[in-house]
Amino acid sequence: MAAPLVLALVTAAIIAMAADHTSATPPSLVTFIFGDSLTEVGNNNYLQYSLARSDFPFYGIDYKNGKPTGRFSNGRTIGDIISEKLGIPSPPPYLSLNPNDDVILKGVNYASGGAGILNDTGLYFIQRMSFDDQIDYFENTTKVIKRKIGERAGNNLLNEAIYFIGMGSNDYINNFLQPFLPDGQQYTPDEFLDLLRLKLAEQFTRLYLLGARKMIFHGLGPLGCIPSQRAKSTSNQCLHQVNEWVLQFNSKIQKMIKVLNLKLKHVQLTFADTYQDVLDLVDNPTKYGFKVSNTSCCRVDTSVGGLCLSNAHVCRNRKEYVFWDAFHPSDAANEVLADRFFSKLFSNLNGSAASAPNQG
Ligand SMILES: *[C@@H]1O[C@H](CO)[C@@H](O)[C@H](O)[C@H]1NC(C)=O
Ligand SMILES: *[C@@H]1O[C@H](CO)[C@@H](O)[C@H](O)[C@H]1NC(C)=O
Ligand SMILES: *[C@@H]1O[C@H](CO)[C@@H](O)[C@H](O)[C@H]1NC(C)=O
Ligand SMILES: *[C@@H]1O[C@H](CO)[C@@H](O)[C@H](O)[C@H]1NC(C)=O
Repeated sequence: MAAPLVLALVTAAIIAMAADHTSATPPSLVTFIFGDSLTEVGNNNYLQYSLARSDFPFYGIDYKNGKPTGRFSNGRTIGDIISEKLGIPSPPPYLSLNPNDDVILKGVNYASGGAGILNDTGLYFIQRMSFDDQIDYFENTTKVIKRKIGERAGNNLLNEAIYFIGMGSNDYINNFLQPFLPDGQQYTPDEFLDLLRLKLAEQFTRLYLLGARKMIFHGLGPLGCIPSQRAKSTSNQCLHQVNEWVLQFNSKIQKMIKVLNLKLKHVQLTFADTYQDVLDLVDNPTKYGFKVSNTSCCRVDTSVGGLCLSNAHVCRNRKEYVFWDAFHPSDAANEVLADRFFSKLFSNLNGSAASAPNQG
């Protein structure tokens, strides 16, 4: 039931936009994006001491003008591609804006590489905006919006906006799975998952209290299969245990979301499950026109971080690789994943969208 609901939301948003085109008002689809390096569009460029950044070559080599922007990809993020498909500009990074800029009325991207659900995730990146920090910034944005267009219109804008949230990968990769950080020692996998679940429920509730209603949470992909994790196995295989923990995370969060949908009036919180789509891409790259999914296009040293440094060797045909660096999909893979998301949308336009459960 999670998938049809996402589709219902997005469909409703598209219909709202189409309706707007016929009137004098501009398109009304507003999106706010919260996340980590999978969705960052350049916030960390503004954090002077952050080690989680990608504002150097060869990042962005396939982006507009071939320039690095702070996206952790050779090209676009999934969020960029979804925005293109929705016919709206990809929202700008919060830290690039004057907080009073009118563009905040069209949406903002708060995502920050290295960020997690927990405050101490990604600690060794020195600076990053944790999910709590991102919500703090968003809280400021809500105040500015209401100051600009009034309390009532502001609340309406916030209620009607779509919130894309992708968090949790770093809580495993750059926290629990790091033997030199305390959380992996201190908690069992079940205890750690409980901690994430409780914290995330609190964060969703906080966004709700700030006016968010239509929230789409992206579940985790098979993290055990990203190049940085494969490199830890003896024969470059996916780490089964890590994938098991991810599946447990997805399942528990999905249940928590169900509970919140009953508890918070008029909320439409959706869990978007992308695990199988990513796994299929990794298991059957040729089916999607790729050649390699077990190592990254950019030849990275996973012992020193796994980012694509400026002196690295980059593969000749970047469209043949599912992974750009040791953590992040390539532009071509992001395109496939965004397409999957949208084909699900359109295959559901025929009926289930209209009859999707109206939560809360
Ligand atoms: C995490 O940071 C937020 C905001 O910066 C703060 O409100 C919260 O108390 C912190 N939580 C922990 C467990 O340190
Ligand atoms: C929010 O705005 C207040 C003043 O308007 C400012 O002092 C504070 O630093 C801002 N907080 C964030 C997280 O941007
Ligand atoms: C990736 O898989 C191919 C077979 O599909 C294999 O020939 C190659 O050695 C693998 N590469 C690595 C780095 O494991
Ligand atoms: C809707 O259903 C019809 C007939 O079942 C099919 O031909 C059409 O392609 C479907 N439309 C979409 C957008 O899936």
